Amino acid sequence: MIPVPANANDEPRKFPIPANVHAETVVSVKHHTDRLFSFRITRPQSFRFRSGEFVMIGLPNAEKPVFRAYSIASPAWDDELEFYSIKVPDGPLTSELQKIVPGDTILLRQKSTGTLVVDALKPGKRLWMIATGTGIAPFASLVRDPDTYDKFEEIVLTNTCRDVAELQYGDALFASVSQDPLIGELTEGRLSYYASTTREPSARNGRITDLISSGRLFADLGVPSFDPEVDRVMICGSLDMIRDVKELVEKAGLVEGSNAAPADFVVERAFVG
Ligand code: A2P
Repeated sequence: MIPVPANANDEPRKFPIPANVHAETVVSVKHHTDRLFSFRITRPQSFRFRSGEFVMIGLPNAEKPVFRAYSIASPAWDDELEFYSIKVPDGPLTSELQKIVPGDTILLRQKSTGTLVVDALKPGKRLWMIATGTGIAPFASLVRDPDTYDKFEEIVLTNTCRDVAELQYGDALFASVSQDPLIGELTEGRLSYYASTTREPSARNGRITDLISSGRLFADLGVPSFDPEVDRVMICGSLDMIRDVKELVEKAGLVEGSNAAPADFVVERAFVG
């Protein structure tokens, strides 16, 4: 019999690693609420991506493992890869993924892709990153990338969640970015963070769509409302949220862009399941 290679915990592998897939090691796991967790894994040297992109990940727990698209939450310069995930009790991947511990193996496909990249936007002055729930993940990558600050003078990250505990990942991200030795200085006076909750009272309440429609978002930040000459927008959340925010930015005259045809705003669905 051919010996089966051991994983980082030195347990024999029950299933082979599929061809053309990286087998990476879980470095750390953080459970934020009973619905949300984040984790970091080793990064293969050959794995390149643009901040804001997603990649397919899976677990080595079947002959043909389930792979799901996950936004990479760490910036392109980071030695490790970070992901931010919902836990779905009967989700095909997250029901198992939520049990990972340091030392476990994560499968990573080789190619990353996605539209929430600065290259899919025309130059502009102010970049809005509109996130609900785990939709903040690609923006966690972009706000930590110096490239984002090269291309835009101002960046506004909005984070809307059901309750206060769910805001924590975004709150901690914003706090850590300003302390970061690499980009802390770059973000000074240029990165704004705007959080709200919809199902529990907090400092600011309401769906981002209502905060946009009422003009409160702009009034609170002291900036004019969306203007195609000035503003670029990235949207990440549920399908309903994307549809509704998209309608609002289109009403303001912004045009949807893509990698092939950069324009004023881009959208991507936050991972579910
Ligand atoms: P709400 O609590 O009113 O549903 P989820 O965790 O379900 O993805 O939701 C994350 C956040 O997105 C919640 O605050 C939720 O508000 C909000 N949300 C859900 N649907 C929409 C939508 N169509 N437009 C704007 N925000 C939405």
